[in-house]
Amino acid sequence: MKIGILTSGGDCPGLNAVIRGAVLKGTEAYDMEFVGIRDGWKGLVEADFSPLTRRDVKGLSKVGGTILGTSRTNPYEGDRGGAENIAKTLYGHKLDGIIAIGGEGTLAAAQRLNNDGIPVLGVPKTIDNDLRATDYSFGFDTAVNIATEAMDRLRTTGDSHQRCMVAEVMGRHVGWIALHSGVAAGAHIICIPEVPLSLDEITKQVLAAHERGRAPLVVVAEGFKIEGQDEAYSDKGLDAFNRPRLGGIGEVLAPLIEEATGIETRATVLGHIQRGGSPSGFDRVLATRLGLHAADAVVDGAWGQMVALKGTDIVRVPFDEALGELNSVPLYRYEEAAALFG
Ligand code: F6P
Repeated sequence: MKIGILTSGGDCPGLNAVIRGAVLKGTEAYDMEFVGIRDGWKGLVEADFSPLTRRDVKGLSKVGGTILGTSRTNPYEGDRGGAENIAKTLYGHKLDGIIAIGGEGTLAAAQRLNNDGIPVLGVPKTIDNDLRATDYSFGFDTAVNIATEAMDRLRTTGDSHQRCMVAEVMGRHVGWIALHSGVAAGAHIICIPEVPLSLDEITKQVLAAHERGRAPLVVVAEGFKIEGQDEAYSDKGLDAFNRPRLGGIGEVLAPLIEEATGIETRATVLGHIQRGGSPSGFDRVLATRLGLHAADAVVDGAWGQMVALKGTDIVRVPFDEALGELNSVPLYRYEEAAALFG
């Protein structure tokens, strides 16, 4: 069997560990051959392939990023895109199927290609932890560890200056990173897209922490919007490319807190630091196991499915079950954390 592997969408610590797991298991246990597909679906459409052997994946479980490169290309776009062209490319290179490692967008494209007759197996990836058919996705634990360490640092400088510190973390649609890192770092308020909060509710917690002699720590997910403050996001001027210049929500929130409370406030946007560097031990193990099970699934012909973590087991889930609604933070989990705000 000859299988292509691609990584698509935003990168994520653990991608290389999946590749290594799949190649080691596939070559040793099943005598499979692998090719690496460059830059996600783009490489599939352009037939940008190179052999992927045991030697190529040596020592990869601890290496961040992806050795294959990634992009946000849609395989149905362009002259050489679409299922018919891709089928010809696969046939021409004697490929039996594809392992696609990616998030919501990648898996939706994988599902469509699979429905159109291209054998695709999915491996879930997202630091945001927003895919619903897996208990955790690799990359999330690493991002939480990085954000937690950053907040511990923000607290010592905040304490020294008696300032309020606002930390903005990733999470366009869901607040998992904010929730976990906020609980781990002892935040005084956590702002996530799933839970509406007004500026008053936020500043109440900030003032309460300040009155207790603490430097208030506010954690905000990038997708959070302050309830009733639409004007805070508009009219930010233009950037160097003539696009509306929108500061992250952390930078929007910090001056509003300072104005409302009189407490000097600083914002830190953690951004892509949360996605870079080596995966945590947990993510290395999870990603490696997903890779090993991806090789098993391919041999079993489990196309149109995704390998996923359920409890402590790796299972197979049809794309139809994996896609659709995102895995957002349930209210009870937020309420648990809110009991700690003070
Ligand atoms: O989906 C993962 C994610 O890290 C989001 O949390 C973030 O909004 C986005 O990717 C950033 O994407 P890009 O790297 O394209 O700026």
